[in-house]
Amino acid sequence: MILYNAQDKTCTLHTRNSTYQMKVWDYHILLHTYYGPRLAGSDDLSYLFRRSDRGFSPNPSEAGGDRTFSLDTFPQEYSTCGVGDYRLPSIELELPSGSRTADLRYIKCEIRRGKYVLEGLPAFHGDEEEWETLRIVLRDAAAQVEVELLYGVLEEYDLITRAVLVRNVGDTAIRLCRCASLCLDFTRADLDFITFNGAHVMERCPSRAPLRPGIQSVDSVRGASSHQHNPFVVLCDKTAGEDCGLCYGAMLLYSGNFQAAAERDQFENARLVMGLNPYHFTWTLEPGAVFTAPEAAMVCSPAGFGQMSRQFHRAIRKNLIRDPWADRRKPVLINHWEATEADFTADRLVDIAREAPELGLELFVMDDGWFGRRNDDNAGLGDWLVNEEKLPGGLEALVERIKALGMEFGIWIEPEMVNEDSELYRAHPDWTLNVPGRKSSRGRNQLVLDFSRGDVRDHIYGQIKAVLSSADISYVKWDMNRSLTEVWSAALPAGRQGEVYHRYVLGVYEFAERMRRDFPHILIEGCAGGGGRFDGGMLYYTPQIWCSDNTDAVDRLRIQYGTSFCYPVSTMGAHVSAVPNGCTGRVTPMETRGVVAMSGTFGYEMDLSKCTPEEKEIIRRQAAIFKEHYDLIQDGDYYRLSDPFQNGRFTAWEHVSHDRREALVSLVTGQFHGAPPFLALQIRGLDPALRYRVNGGGTLYGGDVLMRAGYPLPILPGDYQGMQLYIQAEDEQV
Ligand code: DGJ
Repeated sequence: MILYNAQDKTCTLHTRNSTYQMKVWDYHILLHTYYGPRLAGSDDLSYLFRRSDRGFSPNPSEAGGDRTFSLDTFPQEYSTCGVGDYRLPSIELELPSGSRTADLRYIKCEIRRGKYVLEGLPAFHGDEEEWETLRIVLRDAAAQVEVELLYGVLEEYDLITRAVLVRNVGDTAIRLCRCASLCLDFTRADLDFITFNGAHVMERCPSRAPLRPGIQSVDSVRGASSHQHNPFVVLCDKTAGEDCGLCYGAMLLYSGNFQAAAERDQFENARLVMGLNPYHFTWTLEPGAVFTAPEAAMVCSPAGFGQMSRQFHRAIRKNLIRDPWADRRKPVLINHWEATEADFTADRLVDIAREAPELGLELFVMDDGWFGRRNDDNAGLGDWLVNEEKLPGGLEALVERIKALGMEFGIWIEPEMVNEDSELYRAHPDWTLNVPGRKSSRGRNQLVLDFSRGDVRDHIYGQIKAVLSSADISYVKWDMNRSLTEVWSAALPAGRQGEVYHRYVLGVYEFAERMRRDFPHILIEGCAGGGGRFDGGMLYYTPQIWCSDNTDAVDRLRIQYGTSFCYPVSTMGAHVSAVPNGCTGRVTPMETRGVVAMSGTFGYEMDLSKCTPEEKEIIRRQAAIFKEHYDLIQDGDYYRLSDPFQNGRFTAWEHVSHDRREALVSLVTGQFHGAPPFLALQIRGLDPALRYRVNGGGTLYGGDVLMRAGYPLPILPGDYQGMQLYIQAEDEQV
């Protein structure tokens, strides 16, 4: 619910469990007054502000002799630059004079039902009944710039989205040098800042630290959201945990260079600013032109991280993922990459696929290596024509063979890249991102195509479209295997090179949207060397993303744990692979690998023709369990029951049905040591008034009993043992 009080000049946004408020204050400055647990009414909360003459905090000229008003000391709704607030700016404009200031004053606001859309950018969506939109217009009179702050309120899921439009209303071109999507001021600084960090093959590991004086930030300058830091962060009470404490999660729906910065200021206030990374960013706005900053989304949970995550999960599943994949069951797949890499023939693929349908697997994915002269990762990218030496008779012949086995067919692409050893590069060496006079850096021996250019995208799209139209293909894995360097585009003049990083991402989105439009039945899985572009932006186009190139079950416990703080399991690509694991060399039981991969999109990544009869039996059982509990796992409420970074004895998590009548607890033990303790696991999310059976056993347990006293865990000798508890309610009441 959004309420504007004309008398107080406050705007109050209520969600189910949170309230957010801003107020038009003296001199038409828009201040932020509150974001926290839901308040019953919409009282003006500016009574909390204190006026005081603070040394070295300037006063706007309109304040005359009043030295108690400063932009530097009051919480701002969207911070300005160079006019008195020395904290993190949200916007920076370079005016024709060369000055770099921005001073925004409130003009008007409007409230309407439904959700705004952002042209060419990903955004949460939904119908009129679910959403309300608030539009606030601010103006910088000297710069002749209008800034629209957009807020979407998805009350049920406590989600508040934000976006920013900057319009040049003057008659000379100006330059935007910074344009954040979210600015969130707190009148307290005793907060912890949690970020999700890592590297290729070890993504999204949480790191929690108290806010210290000054600025702490995470970002990407790699052109993709990156393996190293994720565009999702949390600010929380120092005492916040899974089930307690106030926490604020903020995600950016963006797949390129971002920055999330938190500042603790001189007066113990805090500010979070999140959006496009100002690194190498400038955008020229001609008169009348509009720039749209990507969408950000926030959830405030007064009841800990668990509730925050579950609200993000619901919103992402229902209001970010688009039809038909919000509801349609996704197939259990088998991918041959870890078994063969690019060294395969059609016969070899058919051998791997042959027994898959009988084991319950439904989709065969042909990974990297089917095109051009691609026998390893040194050649062929850019030539999206079937390599008939490997696949005699072409794609259609192979697809028919796979379909005759009773499986759907999927294919791998990497449209943004090119090898120098390719027909495309020989014909168009100028189509890559490269700086005149410099030799381009290679990553995995490949160069990056200039996806900011429509002509480059059109050419690649034409090839990909022909491939996807040539056979019955129902899945695409869209990979991206290097970061950007030498970012310069031959299509833009010198003064606009600061636009290339962002135009590249817009190009990726445009390409993805075309694929969705032309092939609505195709399930697209995003991938960037695993989880290098795992973000809300890509999820708008690709309903699942390969979580990591690390398929080791023990490392995946950590990676999937960190990922779950924002993203639902239905978006996390996860497969059972062979052991010893190719990344870690670790040997884990097949049951354990299944338990871990099942908390994802689920599939296999191995040579089935080499599996023993026992292993095949396990696969058959796992696929059946996954399908039986598909809705519970993919659509249920997710509970983290332990932290794999803290608890060496076991990692456990749980999926609970919406009616709380069913739950699936998954658990993987750590290294086994002598004299193990007898542990009981407190289950969460059940109905205390119902009685439950565990794994179909004879005993009935009260929901309250399982949640408070817990369920006794068996002793499982051996390292990294996996188990599941299926918990189902009986009709009888306690
Ligand atoms: C990186 C991906 O994450 C892998 O799964 C595989 O598709 C390779 N690229 C292929 O080059």
